[in-house]
Amino acid sequence: MPSLSSLPGPIGVFDSGYGGLTILRKIREALPQYDYIYLGDNARAPYGTRSFEIVYEFTRQAVIKLFEMGCQLVILACNTASAKALRSIQQRDLPGWDASRRVLGVIRPTVESIGGVTRSRHVGVLATAGTIQSESYPMEIRKQFPDIKVYGQACPLWVPLVENGEAEGDGADYFVRKYIGKLLQQDARIDTVILGCTHYPLLLPKIRLYMPAGITVVSQGELVADSLKDYLARHPEMDARCTRGGECVYFTTEAEEKFSESASVFLNEEVTVRRVVLD
Ligand code: DGL
Repeated sequence: MPSLSSLPGPIGVFDSGYGGLTILRKIREALPQYDYIYLGDNARAPYGTRSFEIVYEFTRQAVIKLFEMGCQLVILACNTASAKALRSIQQRDLPGWDASRRVLGVIRPTVESIGGVTRSRHVGVLATAGTIQSESYPMEIRKQFPDIKVYGQACPLWVPLVENGEAEGDGADYFVRKYIGKLLQQDARIDTVILGCTHYPLLLPKIRLYMPAGITVVSQGELVADSLKDYLARHPEMDARCTRGGECVYFTTEAEEKFSESASVFLNEEVTVRRVVLD
């Protein structure tokens, strides 16, 4: 790790690909005054089917890059990276790199909200295979709400559908119905379903179509944005280290044109992006 500047910098937002843009969008709506850097590791996405070691290594490289770009605070806007890499980065790496910087994930802020949402205390989680296998959601829910029962369902085809611009296509219906059905088959008392992947809000119209009435779908963007707002209010020392200019710059590890085209679908606006190499 090269020596890092302690000057204030933009807030870094990282995802394996485009999914984190759903989080970035909500964060910028809630906190428009700050500067942001978005980094998508599109060349190596999806992360959802990769091993712990690889997700950790890739995420670590991305965090180092964002730190080198001047970010003092980085949000892992990716459940898979939050599940498989966050704890090691926070506990093992950060103290040696620069103990005053922070890396935050998306799982805890999501879980915090569900205690007040579920009445049956039976909750489902739809996520990538990696997030489901990591058991991060059941562990975090057990910590905060020991009375809640958690059921997980991996949706391995949902990220490829979104990454390939097929979220609204006819083919998506089959897989949306299939994974919702498999989740609800596990327990008829599930009354709350967490979308535990930042790509899934793009499938929300179809998810709502096939989710039985009476089940609340919890999407993460606003929860993460509120939690960040709260974090900055409680940590004035970090707030002072985040620059304010309302700017956002985008970086991808894939071809720039490809990113700009797809990102405009997620953000409803044109973006300029630069390519970056992670190693
Ligand atoms: N967006 C990532 C998440 O929230 C997953 C996408 C991937 O598999 O890379 O888990």
